[in-house]
Amino acid sequence: TTYNVGIIIGSISSTSINRRLANALVRLAPQADLTLTELPIAALPFYSADNDGAIPAEAAAFKSSIESSDAVIIVTPEYNRSVPGVLKNALDTASRPWGQNSFAGKPSAVIGASIGAIGTAVAQQHLRSILSFLASPELSQPEAYIHLRDGLITDDGEVTDESTAEFLVSWLKAVHTHVAKSLSPAE
Ligand code: FNR
Repeated sequence: TTYNVGIIIGSISSTSINRRLANALVRLAPQADLTLTELPIAALPFYSADNDGAIPAEAAAFKSSIESSDAVIIVTPEYNRSVPGVLKNALDTASRPWGQNSFAGKPSAVIGASIGAIGTAVAQQHLRSILSFLASPELSQPEAYIHLRDGLITDDGEVTDESTAEFLVSWLKAVHTHVAKSLSPAE
C-alpha cells in the first residue's frame, strides 16, 4: 500500500537545511512506498484561544491537511535546545479547539538536520513529548539525527553520499511499517 504522508518543516528560513532534508525525503519516498506532500506552516496566524469559535481559514486548511494525511513526518531544526516557535505554533494550532485535535491517532515520525554534530537530539525529545500529549502514535526507532555538512544534500534534495541516502530510505521504510501497524493494528 502506498501511504500519503504530510511533511511539516519546522523552519521557515529561505535557506533552511531542514527544507533540503525534506526535499531529499520527498525524492526518496517512492522507494519506501510513500508519497510525501508538504503541509506548509509559514502562513499560519499565531494561535489564540480567542479564535476557537471562528477558526482562521489558514488554520482550518492546515488542520484538514493533517486529518486527510495517512501520517505526518516532522522535519525540524533545534532552536535553543527545543523546537522553533513556528513549529510549536503549528502544533498548538493543530491541537485545538479542544476536542478537535488533528493529531489524535495520527501516526507521526520525527527527523531533523543540524550543522552541529549532536544536532536536533534535544529538540526531537521535546517534540516527542508534545506528540505524546497529542495522542499521536510515534515511530520510536530508528532515531534520525542528520548531521548536514556542506554539500551532503543539494538544494533540490539530491543526496550526494550513498550511505546517507541508504539510511534515509531505511528510515522511510520504517515509517511505512509504522503507518501500516498504526492504521490496522492486530486484532
Ligand atoms: C540555532 N541553532 C542551533 N543548533 C543546534 O544544534 N542547537 C540549538 O540549540 C540551536 N539553537 C539555535 C537557535 C536559533 C535562534 C538559531 C537561529 C539557530 C543552529 C541551527 O541548527 C542552524 O541555524 C540550522 O541551519 C537551522 O535549521 P534550518 O532553519 O536551516 O533548517
